[in-house]
Amino acid sequence: MHYRTLGAFEVSAISLGCMSLSYAYGVPPSAEQGERLLLSALDAGVNFFDTAALYGFGNNEELVGRVLKPHRQRYTLASKGGMAGVSFPDGVKRVIDGRPEAIRKNCEDSLKRLQTDVIDLYYLHRWDKKVPIEDSVGELSRLVERGWVRTLGLSEVSAATIRKAHAVHPITAVQTEYSLWTRNPEIAVLQTCRELGIGFVAFSPVGRAFLTGRLSDVQTLEAKDIRHNMPRFHPEHYAQNLKLLPAFEKLAQEAQCTPAQLALAWLLHQGVDIVPIPGTTSLEHLSENLAAADLKLPASVLAQAGALINQSTVSGDRYNAQSQIEVDTETFAPKAPH
Ligand SMILES: NC(=O)c1ccc[n+]([C@@H]2O[C@H](COP(=O)([O-])OP(=O)(O)OC[C@H]3O[C@@H](n4cnc5c(N)ncnc54)[C@H](OP(=O)(O)O)[C@@H]3O)[C@@H](O)[C@H]2O)c1
Repeated sequence: MHYRTLGAFEVSAISLGCMSLSYAYGVPPSAEQGERLLLSALDAGVNFFDTAALYGFGNNEELVGRVLKPHRQRYTLASKGGMAGVSFPDGVKRVIDGRPEAIRKNCEDSLKRLQTDVIDLYYLHRWDKKVPIEDSVGELSRLVERGWVRTLGLSEVSAATIRKAHAVHPITAVQTEYSLWTRNPEIAVLQTCRELGIGFVAFSPVGRAFLTGRLSDVQTLEAKDIRHNMPRFHPEHYAQNLKLLPAFEKLAQEAQCTPAQLALAWLLHQGVDIVPIPGTTSLEHLSENLAAADLKLPASVLAQAGALINQSTVSGDRYNAQSQIEVDTETFAPKAPH
């Protein structure tokens, strides 16, 4: 495993997003399978684990806390607040709440579930647009003063918001979706992070399975799979997107790697400040993904991958209208109709 610098931390160049061990892509795996996956990742040299209060409404943090607690000195722990499950008479619902008291409560609950005294990197999961970013980050900085968290991050924010937040308290990392098929950070966020010395954590780096070439039929997704809500996974768009894969798969084959590895190698090649956090429930996929850190692919192959799959060639938005309102990231102008 190679390591990259993220603020004060040296983290595995390919790290682990833990979300799907508890939620998101259909029925999550058993606790035993989750435990095996986390410990295998640690054994393989992964030392940066990403979770959030939101994932499984706390279940993911509980899993990560329980399984990794005995090894707490060996890894950098990242979690997120400001978006979590809140109990209502008709059940628990996902709520974005960036008020200081809500952030403090989220963090307190996370520390308990994670069974730790301190979270190394604590992100504001979404900027709550009803609350000035300065107020939310102001509370995060008080969490640092209290010793509850070591450093701060932001997720799915624009360059302007990053600047405002960074003026309140230094930001260590910005985490946003970034992959061959989601290029929004290239508009302004990556450049701003570089200018301010902020690291970048790329989530959904294998395009929620699209870039692995192994999701050939979205009709097979389970009813609870969150990809049903994402336009580019809707059958009419996905059929268009699948047409991009044969050339991509051929390129990977010629480079003697898998499509997932090519997607991850492309991301690593975009800058030493980028740390992809692919998620997986499969030990086989975990090994495959981690091996991408060792690949040395010619720049020409990576450029061809980028030319094949990008915002101009992909069909459908990454988020539906409601989710798009909740993020603050820059978007590309809509494509002109053919
Ligand atoms: N900040 C945010 O708002 C935000 C949002 C989303 C995600 N995240 C973070 O980013 C992490 C990763 O994102 P993600 O899970 O959404 O997307 P991802 O890593 O791009 O894709 C995960 C999906 O791809 C499949 N997969 C992964 N590697 C594979 C391989 N080598 N071959 C075939 N299939 C493979 C997984 O299935 P298998 O289980 O079968 O491998 C799963 O369905 C999350 O765990 C979470 O920590 C953050």
